[in-house]
Amino acid sequence: MKQLLIYCRPGFEKEAAAEIQDKASQMGCPGFARAKDDSGYVIYECFGEDDADLIARKLLFRELIFARQMLVVHAQVQDLPLDDRIAPLLEAAAGMELCGDIRVETPDTNDGKELSRFCRKFTVPMRQALRAKGLLTRQEMNNRPVLHLFFLANNHALLGYSYSFNNSPFHMGIPRLRFASDSPSRSSLKLEEAFHVFIPRHEWELRLTSGMRAVDLCAAPGGWTHQLVSRDMMVTAVDHNAMDAKLMDTGQVKHYKDDAFSWRPARQNTYWLVSDMVEKPARVVSIMAAWLVEENCQEAIFNLKLPMKKRYAEALHNLEQLKTKLAVLGGFHIQAKQLYHDREEITVHVYRPFKVAKLIPKD
Ligand SMILES: C[S@@+](CC[C@H](N)C(=O)[O-])C[C@H]1O[C@@H](n2cnc3c(N)ncnc32)[C@H](O)[C@@H]1O
Repeated sequence: MKQLLIYCRPGFEKEAAAEIQDKASQMGCPGFARAKDDSGYVIYECFGEDDADLIARKLLFRELIFARQMLVVHAQVQDLPLDDRIAPLLEAAAGMELCGDIRVETPDTNDGKELSRFCRKFTVPMRQALRAKGLLTRQEMNNRPVLHLFFLANNHALLGYSYSFNNSPFHMGIPRLRFASDSPSRSSLKLEEAFHVFIPRHEWELRLTSGMRAVDLCAAPGGWTHQLVSRDMMVTAVDHNAMDAKLMDTGQVKHYKDDAFSWRPARQNTYWLVSDMVEKPARVVSIMAAWLVEENCQEAIFNLKLPMKKRYAEALHNLEQLKTKLAVLGGFHIQAKQLYHDREEITVHVYRPFKVAKLIPKD
């Protein structure tokens, strides 16, 4: 297979293209990316015959910043007859490895949204037809590849597969989250999405648990703080502006009307540091790195705003700076993603696993 399909936020095709081109070349799979502005996807054309499959298996999806999903294109089917799309799609799927699940998707664009109702309705008969042909397991199996049908128009689809151990587990690469009506701002969804993307579910009990202490820098009116409070954490919110009154009434929030850039906690008992500050990425990186290096927090989630032209280069440069500043820690994990709820920005997660390790009793 020679084509790799990457989903991305519309408007970020150049970044997604530059990133896949870079990463694929580094792993010895040269090629070129084809991207159309605002299309919501990128196709990477590999020079090597089996390279798309190799990339889909070996290039760690979680390390891609601008990709929402990554899959191998098996076939492109155009001019589908509208009264029977299934037969030609089944024909095109012949020879595919047995898949464990199907996702019928579209780009995240206005045109795509118009197709989403059709996609939902089409999933059931297509799934049945694939099962009858032996191309899909009888029961959903999450250890088999996922079959994707990516509709670009109602008669035009890309058919492909992703590896379940190296893909986004979400339909269209977008987690569906429900906005809590009592949250003071929709940005609470941004932090919730970050938790879903960065923290494995089986570790939530340990790393996102009630009673933990968190600090939210530039917190007002309190969307991110609300997300932490809803997980029963005790939050210190630092912002010159007022916090939402209902949030303060929970008794779980302490508000300091201080400067978020110089404020530090009196004690080293903060687990989470979060921040959605509107600042130059270099300054955000400096503050976050200082908190981590001074051992004022264990994990951090923050945004890097990218209003500039060279967004991919800027993101890479700042992540490199962050790594350099954190090197003294000896061990840490960094992940960065442009989340669905991110706009002109990416979200970064840093994790120092030491203290969690200390919590595990020694023999
Ligand atoms: C994008 S809003 C934060 C939204 C918040 N995370 C939420 O979810 O509701 C940015 C906030 O940063 C605060 N801010 C900007 N510079 C600050 C500083 N130097 N110290 C404290 N707060 C600051 C502003 O008052 C503003 O409330």
